[in-house]
Amino acid sequence: MTLQLPKKVEIIEVGPRDGLQNEKAFIPTEAKKQFITQLRGSGIKELELTSFVSPKWVPQMQDAAEIVSACLDENTRNIVLTPNAKGVERVYMTDCKAVAVFVGVSNTFNKKNINKMTDESMDELAPIIKELKASGYFVRACISTAFYCPYEGKMEEEATIRLCRQFVDLGVDELSVADTIGMAAPHEAFSLFSKLKHAFPHLLLTAHFHDTRNMALTNIFAALQAGVTRFDTSAGGLGGCPFAPGAAGNAATEDVVFMLERMGIETGIDLTKLVQAIDVIRPHLSRPIETAYYRLSQTEKV
Ligand code: HMG
Ligand code: MG
Repeated sequence: MTLQLPKKVEIIEVGPRDGLQNEKAFIPTEAKKQFITQLRGSGIKELELTSFVSPKWVPQMQDAAEIVSACLDENTRNIVLTPNAKGVERVYMTDCKAVAVFVGVSNTFNKKNINKMTDESMDELAPIIKELKASGYFVRACISTAFYCPYEGKMEEEATIRLCRQFVDLGVDELSVADTIGMAAPHEAFSLFSKLKHAFPHLLLTAHFHDTRNMALTNIFAALQAGVTRFDTSAGGLGGCPFAPGAAGNAATEDVVFMLERMGIETGIDLTKLVQAIDVIRPHLSRPIETAYYRLSQTEKV
């Protein structure tokens, strides 16, 4: 028997957005710009630049417009997150052509995160997504609490698949399905992603694992077995949603790339340059970078 592994995997770097949004002290805009430039230099081709959200709710993202105007690059898919019409209006004022909307399967989480019930968010987003698609935008739908909610506990697979189907019917290009609090175990990752692959075989399907309980890498391996070839990761393992208590950072780009390349799976990312990108943002963070690859890169040849 042989492992079924893809030849190539696409990494969507979410560090500048998910990675930084939970940092309390404001990180200078110039440092964020340099981080983005260096991430691209390491070979990242798809990137969440920032989010157009309320600066009162997420003060770290208050410089989003400046980041977008400075950091668009035609060789990268530059994605901006937004949950509502106001955010999309802000997108229309830029040259950004890729938008990520986000909704939780869990009503309680969605209310805490976006101040709306899930259905209310969908009612607001439906015409917006149709308009974005008609205007030629790339639309990514981020599905939060796809496995577990910090308030409601386990989410039924059927509820997650139903929400994904609503987005697919609206014409989105990509689903990014998230284990927001890092609670999913590999058998659950395999099960949900197998069903999503089966239900939406022609859609870009991306897995987004937070690493709260050190299961992100194993979940990525499980998702690979389910046929997923796209992963959201964050350089330095930064991240977490301010409205998901206890959620740790995302799967670390460097550890994911190291694992994939060790298995002979191409990512197009240069780890030495990725470490240099992390070094740009590290002095501005509230916590040390403790990912395995980064730590080893400081002491020995990895
Ligand atoms: P609200 O208070 O209900 O909104 O918040 P509102 O419509 O009443 O507006 C309140 C104020 O915010 C107004 O300004 C609006 O103009 C402004 P004021 O009149 O008070 O000066 N406003 C905005 N400003 C800028 N950009 C906007 C925007 N919208 C309204 N887009 C709202 C509702 C959605 C705005 C708020 O709840 C919010 O900003 N939430 C964002 C939360 C967030 O960013 N969470 C993290 C990202 S999601 C995530 O991390 C999960 C993910 O990684 C996947 C996973 O891991 O699960 C994607
Ligand atoms: Mg996240």
